[in-house]
Amino acid sequence: MSIDVSRTGSQRHVADIFNSAVAAWAIGAAWEVGALDELRQSGKLDAQEFAARHGLDGPSTEGLFRALAAVRVVERDGSTVTVAAAFDDVYRNRAFVHWLSRGSAELFRQMPSILRTENRTGRFYQRDAAAIAYACRELDALCYAPTFWAAMERARPTGLVVDLGCGSGGRLLDVLRRYPGTSGLGVDIARPSLDVAERDAAAAGLADRLRFVEGDVLRLEPRPEFAEVEVITCFMMGHDFWPRDRCLATLSRLREVFPAARRFILGDATRTSGIPDTELPVFTLGFELGHDLMGIRIPTIPEWQSVFAASQWRLLRTNRIEMTVGEVVFELA
Ligand SMILES: C[S@@+](CC[C@H](N)C(=O)[O-])C[C@H]1O[C@@H](n2cnc3c(N)ncnc32)[C@H](O)[C@@H]1O
Repeated sequence: MSIDVSRTGSQRHVADIFNSAVAAWAIGAAWEVGALDELRQSGKLDAQEFAARHGLDGPSTEGLFRALAAVRVVERDGSTVTVAAAFDDVYRNRAFVHWLSRGSAELFRQMPSILRTENRTGRFYQRDAAAIAYACRELDALCYAPTFWAAMERARPTGLVVDLGCGSGGRLLDVLRRYPGTSGLGVDIARPSLDVAERDAAAAGLADRLRFVEGDVLRLEPRPEFAEVEVITCFMMGHDFWPRDRCLATLSRLREVFPAARRFILGDATRTSGIPDTELPVFTLGFELGHDLMGIRIPTIPEWQSVFAASQWRLLRTNRIEMTVGEVVFELA
């Protein structure tokens, strides 16, 4: 939301900042309890009836819709809630807001402590891995999916596909559905995400073609099943390979651990530059500040290209998406 300070006055400006912050929590919650989807389908709902039907506290639910109304996502008339001007854009971008208010809330809450260099050792920040995985499925559909599937068509998988940093495993489920001859292996460091992945694979009836391994992609050791992998995918975690020396070592290790892999499809955000502070689009600010707080330096596209040139992987194609955080999909052989 852009705020015209001169028109609204600085007190209004402060209120808008505060209300937007509350609304970010409300958007994340409204998505999870199904209110955004119901409003999308019906255009309106009754807050009290919605609360009763979903076992939610009545006054809190009214307050949630009030927070959405404060930023013009909905309008309220008594307990009737109707979609308003900003609804469609918020619906489309809900995963970005959820990433901030649900997945990364603890990271930003700890900002005063994390800023202090003396505190930046060991596990100095926390995030909610399951909530991040929840948002990432949507972020993927919004940003990466068309480019990913075009790259997969060029890779034409027929055997075992490994997804590094697989989160809740949605990408592998989609791959298995699209390519009936394939099987999948998901690797992730976060047990909570793998629990969701295993549950979803069973619910989809694909558990017999899909396995999950808890492990650190930066320190993978060879395993018999890794030797069969023909296609590697890795989305929204490649920045964790960095800095440069570690990235080079990881690329080299992946080459050794997956000796039969003939294609590596790597999609991630890259560092943006030159956007004026007051014109930053949704997500960029939170994503880049969040990673600075975590001590993870997001590489630029030329930095990625230079490590590929120095590795055993050959860069076939750079697909620039650059929607909000310099999204790109590299195809490597
Ligand atoms: C932003 S999520 C992306 C999830 C998924 N790739 C997707 O496209 O939706 C990043 C994932 O990478 C995982 N991850 C981060 N660092 C990792 C590491 N060193 N080894 C394995 N998984 C890691 C996180 O636990 C998380 O599930």
